[in-house]
Amino acid sequence: MAEIDCLHQDKLIRIEGRTPLHGSVRVQGSKNAVLPILAACLLIQGKCVIRNCPIITDVSYMLRLLECAGCEIEQKGNVVTIDALGLREYRLPGKYVRKMRSSVILIGAMLGRVQEVGIEYPGGCVIGERPIDLHLKGLLALGADIAIEGNYIHAEAKKLKGADIVFPFSSVGATQNVILASVLAEGETRIQNAAREPEIDTLCTFLRMAGADIEGIGTSRLVIRGVKTLHPIEYDVVSDRIVAGTYLLATAASRGSICLKEAPIEHMNCILQILRAMGCDIVVRQEQQEIELRCGKKIRNLPLVETDIYPGFPTDLQSLLLVTAITAEGELMLKESIFSGRFKIVEELRRMGAYIREDGSQVMISGGTELTGRNVIARELRGGAALVTAGIVAEGMTTIVGTCYINRGYEDIVRDFKMLGALIDWMDR
Ligand code: EPZ
Repeated sequence: MAEIDCLHQDKLIRIEGRTPLHGSVRVQGSKNAVLPILAACLLIQGKCVIRNCPIITDVSYMLRLLECAGCEIEQKGNVVTIDALGLREYRLPGKYVRKMRSSVILIGAMLGRVQEVGIEYPGGCVIGERPIDLHLKGLLALGADIAIEGNYIHAEAKKLKGADIVFPFSSVGATQNVILASVLAEGETRIQNAAREPEIDTLCTFLRMAGADIEGIGTSRLVIRGVKTLHPIEYDVVSDRIVAGTYLLATAASRGSICLKEAPIEHMNCILQILRAMGCDIVVRQEQQEIELRCGKKIRNLPLVETDIYPGFPTDLQSLLLVTAITAEGELMLKESIFSGRFKIVEELRRMGAYIREDGSQVMISGGTELTGRNVIARELRGGAALVTAGIVAEGMTTIVGTCYINRGYEDIVRDFKMLGALIDWMDR
């Protein structure tokens, strides 16, 4: 399979700032929904068709891992076909595993299908400690034998058996891992304190369409009864709620207006509430799956926003809200309660003129500040996207290196912001 054409892998982004965004843009398929669904295709002995698959590097890495395991992969634009009939290799190549966090859920999928897997500790964005103890706890409960040597994990199981699993706190990935390992296991698995992010619902819906027996979708208590086999299906990936939130927050920061097409409205209540409370006019057209946002001259910060598990304010939009808060009136206390190191962007924003006081897991942002364009460095996915927003609202020229991080989750952030009128381009290094 040719590498998915992830555009502009090592280019810079250059932005001429202070441009209000105006226009409409379609929301791409969801990275965090499609990755577990691609992993779930390993469980199905036949050809699945996945439509609206975003063309991003994390998808490319996941498809390469499936191909190395023996799947046949075809990819035409946003349609990916995966035939896992010929699955033959349980050892997965570290060069792709190390690229992203979501490789870890291949443990559950491989155990579910061939009862063995050899995989390195997953990589991914450096946004703080990212242990996998809850993943391993769940898989051990299902009867897996797991040996770890250095950063190499070997797991196997004669036969996975359903179990009662109580997570001390909800983890998206750990919940997905247990779901993937238990749908073909013997007997019943009950998960308490399961994550309730939409990406859990879409995984369960995909698996149920393929013949899995899962109850409690949308709640923190899932009951999975193992079945003998799953059958191939065709599936449309939901739109990306974080990409949609990115474009709304950028438009608010630039005092512009936007119409989001194919927006995942049902997954965006919290961010829409926050933007309305800040003074944005928002019209939601459910039938047409459109969100219209208009932003006058003034928007005002809320005193406190704290990231939380779903349906709270998503940690993945924390950096994007941080930049919007710099341009709004008043001060915002922004508390990060999910990850321990998700303020890497602060030093770059200070270089652009922001006044931000950092105190452990929270930052105090002084609003009403003018940013000045600078050469800045993206160090992780969502912080990189937030630097693009900062460049759009800053006075003068901003160039961003480290765009490969941004391309992990955004099909073409330059293409989309250009459609909204930003003076933005890819540049050769
Ligand atoms: C998923 O990461 C998403 N990634 C993240 O999006 C998202 O920020 C996160 O969920 C929270 O919503 C994908 O879906 C590919 P967690 P995940 O397990 O599964 C701790 C993006 O920008 N934890 O819910 O890794 C962990 O350290 C990415 O698209 C343990 O302690 O998140 C974190 O503090 C970034 N032990 C917290 O739980 C474990 O075994 C939440 O992590 C697992 C997690």
